[in-house]
Amino acid sequence: MRLSSRHEVTIGSREEEKARESSVCCFNALKERGLPCTCSGHTNQEAVDMADIVILAIPFKHVESTLSTLTGLSGKIVISPVNPMEKRDFFVFTPPPEGSAALLIRRLLPPGTRICTAFNTVAANKWRALGEELDLAIPVCGDDAAAKTVVMDLVNSIPKIRAYDAGPLAVSGMVECLTPLLLNIARYNKMRDVGIQFR
Ligand SMILES: NC(=O)c1ccc[n+]([C@@H]2O[C@H](COP(=O)([O-])OP(=O)(O)OC[C@H]3O[C@@H](n4cnc5c(N)ncnc54)[C@H](OP(=O)(O)O)[C@@H]3O)[C@@H](O)[C@H]2O)c1
Repeated sequence: MRLSSRHEVTIGSREEEKARESSVCCFNALKERGLPCTCSGHTNQEAVDMADIVILAIPFKHVESTLSTLTGLSGKIVISPVNPMEKRDFFVFTPPPEGSAALLIRRLLPPGTRICTAFNTVAANKWRALGEELDLAIPVCGDDAAAKTVVMDLVNSIPKIRAYDAGPLAVSGMVECLTPLLLNIARYNKMRDVGIQFR
């Protein structure tokens, strides 16, 4: 919803009908606000085939099985917002042996896939609250400088949100572990949808 006024967005799903319904939902939400929307729903594979930039918005535990069903990612920019974590008595960061979800994704994808992390620290409820401007920072990690510039431009195309270069993919674990921290802060301080900003 935050991207489809400015970019052509393709929603992927294991169920094409579900993706179509999501795209209609997105279109209607933006129409209500008098905003344009270019959005369509497809299978995950069709969405990958149609996209220049793929956002892997799937839970960590399903990343490996999902990627094993997809082809054609080589050469594309893949954004990981994935945070490997578990809810115990509190939230804990549970990275894979590679050190982060993004580093695992790099191992699973063909060489030549241009992987960056972004959007890890923004709560879904914040994205949904379309009436609210998001004065938030989004750290971006990646090893391909050109891809990182494209991803930072994409992030910065959302009003008020600001992308920050957080370094190479090697440090992506530092970004992914912020989310369990934010969730613990929200929980212990009775706050909701805590985000980050750098001043
Ligand atoms: N939620 C947040 O506030 C938030 C904030 C920052 C980052 N993130 C990260 O963003 C990612 C997505 O989070 P989310 O809360 O959007 O997750 P989610 O709602 O639980 O799942 C997102 C989508 O993943 C697909 N999926 C679910 N189970 C699957 C399975 N068994 N196999 C393959 N695909 C499956 C589903 O799509 P289909 O059923 O349509 O295939 C589902 O709609 C996570 O890695 C999370 O760490 C989330």
